Amino acid sequence: MDTTMEQVVIQELEKNSSIPDSGIFASERGLDHSVLVDSVLKSLIGREIVEAKPISHEHWLVTKEGQEYAEIGSPELRTFQSVGSEGATVEEIQSKLGVVGKLGIQQCLKRGWLKLDKETKKLFPQVTQVIDDTAEKLKRLSLNPQSAELSLQDLKELKSRKLVQSKTLKTFSIQKGRRFSQFHEQVATDLSKEMMESGSWRNASFKEYNFEASGKPLIGGFLHPLMKVREQIRYIFLGMGFEEMPTNQYVESSFWNFDALFQPQQHPARDAHDTFFLSDPAFSKPCKDREYVHRVCKVHQQGAYGSLGYRYPWSEMESQKNILRTHTTAISTKMLYHLAQKEHFVPKKYFSIDRVFRNENLDATHLAEFHQIEGLIADRNLTIGDLKGVIHYFFSQLGMSQLKFKPTYNPYTEPSMEIFAFHEGLGKWVEVGNSGVFRPEMLLPMKLPEDVTVIAWGLSLERPTMILYGVRNIRELFGHKVDMEAIQSYPLCRLGIE
Ligand code: PHE
Repeated sequence: MDTTMEQVVIQELEKNSSIPDSGIFASERGLDHSVLVDSVLKSLIGREIVEAKPISHEHWLVTKEGQEYAEIGSPELRTFQSVGSEGATVEEIQSKLGVVGKLGIQQCLKRGWLKLDKETKKLFPQVTQVIDDTAEKLKRLSLNPQSAELSLQDLKELKSRKLVQSKTLKTFSIQKGRRFSQFHEQVATDLSKEMMESGSWRNASFKEYNFEASGKPLIGGFLHPLMKVREQIRYIFLGMGFEEMPTNQYVESSFWNFDALFQPQQHPARDAHDTFFLSDPAFSKPCKDREYVHRVCKVHQQGAYGSLGYRYPWSEMESQKNILRTHTTAISTKMLYHLAQKEHFVPKKYFSIDRVFRNENLDATHLAEFHQIEGLIADRNLTIGDLKGVIHYFFSQLGMSQLKFKPTYNPYTEPSMEIFAFHEGLGKWVEVGNSGVFRPEMLLPMKLPEDVTVIAWGLSLERPTMILYGVRNIRELFGHKVDMEAIQSYPLCRLGIE
């Protein structure tokens, strides 16, 4: 932006309150009109400091041929001068002047400057003196292209002789704009290297610090909707007397994720399609409790505690493979194991809400990493009735009180039930979780007392979050395509607590 030109415009408006024509304004001050329009006027208009109305002007440009005539005389003058008082034939003139002669003869005859004598075939002057008005007009036009001094007739004639071209020129009438009074002299906000070098800092005026200004609003520190829902669910569990399990370990050995849960080593979920294996370190250290490993091996390989087992050769190496945990039940298992090591059994209610990883096909509702909510109760003589009761209470706190259970299969629970809830908003039954009673093949090798039963259930955190916030595609919620603005503006999570 040309700040000095801008100043000139502003000063003029301050003095005379309007500039009737930017074209005249520019030429009077020797300013380049196109620079005035493109880099000054447009910016001032954009800032609403000035307003401008366009004006169209017919503008006359003298062609190359016209400029030549303006300088050395028109063809008619040069022809008239060549003919002289003695007269000359058409051929003589044409051979002397060429095309100019041909054009000149036409013009001279038309103007009555020359006359053709039919007998002698010679051109003779009819006047003693001529004025080269064509060259005169062209000179005037090249000095002032908007010349209104020439008659329309003259301009038309020069145009038909291709000595001038017409062009429309756009200029503007300029008035003060809405924010004219807010225009301040340009003040420097920073001391720059250029100002130091040129010394212009000496005369520059600097913008003062405004200590009253409020700063930019801070962005950051927004809670992700998943975290908001997690917090609410944590409150439900805590309100029900549950303790939170430590879930800060994403890498788990297959032993705690699968084997200790009586999940056979050939189970399809364990192969590379569903599980992420670590390459470095690929294996964990063997479990220190060798007797426990033995009992786990035995229950898989040949059966124990009245169970037939799976009857396959169990491999400890396979159980040492490091993986990203596929469910938080790995943690529940470890917690139960530690509980079993206590001298006296203490009933426990545990929960966790954290991330798990599955090598699944990704779609609108599935990601390779998601969060699991998991709850379990270990106590003497619990029944499936207790399980259904606690699940009813838990889901009613989430706003879902109409539940249905459907038998299913998990390698580590028997019986196992899928949980369905009637979703008022969607008007249909949706699957909301999985549950069951942990098998003796899982609990007895840990040495939990035989009359201790563990009931447990699990669900994803993403499902209720998507339902609560009306998110259709999980990618908007989690991962690199996350919608940051939506995340920042989601309201607090309010569960339909009854
Ligand atoms: N671990 C199960 C899952 O990943 C959920 C579950 C937890 C099932 C506890 C039964 C008992 O889906």
